[in-house]
Amino acid sequence: MSAPVLDRRSFLALPVLATTPLAAQFDANRTPKNLRIEAVDVVVTNPDERPLGNYVLVKITTSEPGLYGWGDATCSGSEMAVATMLEEHLAPALIGRDPMQIGNLWQTLYHLPYYRSGSVHMSAMSGIDMALWDIKGKVAGLPVYELLGGKMRERLLTYRSAGGASIEEVEDGARALMERGYKVVKVQVAAPGAESGYAVPSSERVQAETQAAYDRGVPPSQLWEPEPYVRILPKLFAHLRKTVGDQVGLLHDVHERVTPSQAIRLAKALEEYDLFYLEDVLRPEHLDTYAIIRQQCSTPLAMGEVYTGAWEGLQLITDHLIDYARHDIAHVGGISTLRKVAALCEPYGIETAFHGPGNISPVSHMAHCHVSYSVPNFGIQEFAVGWGDGVRAVFSASPVFEDGYISIHDMPGLGIDVNEDEARKRPYKRRLRPTIRRADDTPWAY
Ligand code: CO
Repeated sequence: MSAPVLDRRSFLALPVLATTPLAAQFDANRTPKNLRIEAVDVVVTNPDERPLGNYVLVKITTSEPGLYGWGDATCSGSEMAVATMLEEHLAPALIGRDPMQIGNLWQTLYHLPYYRSGSVHMSAMSGIDMALWDIKGKVAGLPVYELLGGKMRERLLTYRSAGGASIEEVEDGARALMERGYKVVKVQVAAPGAESGYAVPSSERVQAETQAAYDRGVPPSQLWEPEPYVRILPKLFAHLRKTVGDQVGLLHDVHERVTPSQAIRLAKALEEYDLFYLEDVLRPEHLDTYAIIRQQCSTPLAMGEVYTGAWEGLQLITDHLIDYARHDIAHVGGISTLRKVAALCEPYGIETAFHGPGNISPVSHMAHCHVSYSVPNFGIQEFAVGWGDGVRAVFSASPVFEDGYISIHDMPGLGIDVNEDEARKRPYKRRLRPTIRRADDTPWAY
């Protein structure tokens, strides 16, 4: 929460590969003949030693000297399974193939395991897809957004999170972000009496317990009771509208932690505060409840980060039960899937709000920006990250923040390189996600 926002100067000051711009590594004036995939390498790294900071990176090397692509196959919670999926089950089908045939290879790998889809398979597919687009952009000598139709906009509206143990703490955090130029802020408050929660600071006791679980290599657990949370949220928004005004966009992520009836109550109670959107108010399977919420209030709804394929959220879109699609490029099948999702949303007026937390790598954040630049129905791009020194040592680029918006440079491909030596110095660390439990030990299930 306290990590500084990355600014252009601080990132350009990095020694990482800055003297080896991508364009210098491969001459785009050459038209490679008989281009073939020669190797697929997987690197799992945790550059900043963060709990959700293991990144699964895929490098596809071609027969053309200096021509390779990077993709992000990170699925936090299943990192090592994805790495094995790539190395053992998908990569062999790519060797010797033409990397320019992205659609052909995508379909090949999608059907290859027969028992297809799901988080592990689709995250692996996402990494390969991004790496192939990276290669195609380098061959063309163009940034990937040019291959997707070019820029619809010059910069991308973004937001960041202010989480607090109390309503006043959230207000302070929101003000600080607004002073830095944010036009939209995500606000999260702890439920009264709760020592932890989603996107709020944990108490010292819970922090110590969490660290002890990490040390033992087991998942930490978090106590969760939804009713106090449902009751405090309208108070948070009433307070914020009174204190920080009605010019700032406010959004909130429920993270699927309420029951269907609580979700209806909550969406109705928050209607008067004009949210930018209410996110993950329920698991996407509760289509009937989404329909009820739509009929009862105008609170904009966002959903999609848990999807691991293009068509899982089909009915939420075609029944127009949501307003923002939150699909994550590292889990739905990469750039190829994300642009299809955006196209599917376009006639419904559903906008994109691709999921961009710190638990996907800068490769995904760059790739998200290429898609967000190019689609007509862009809404907002999450970039909720303050990178540490480790990430800056491993990755050559990142979106840069300025005055409420992010942008990326115009180097060919995805425009990001990975320093493999630095990555291997910072290996995988098992930090399992917390299990969420009711006071009687029932695992949270809605
Ligand atoms: Co979310």
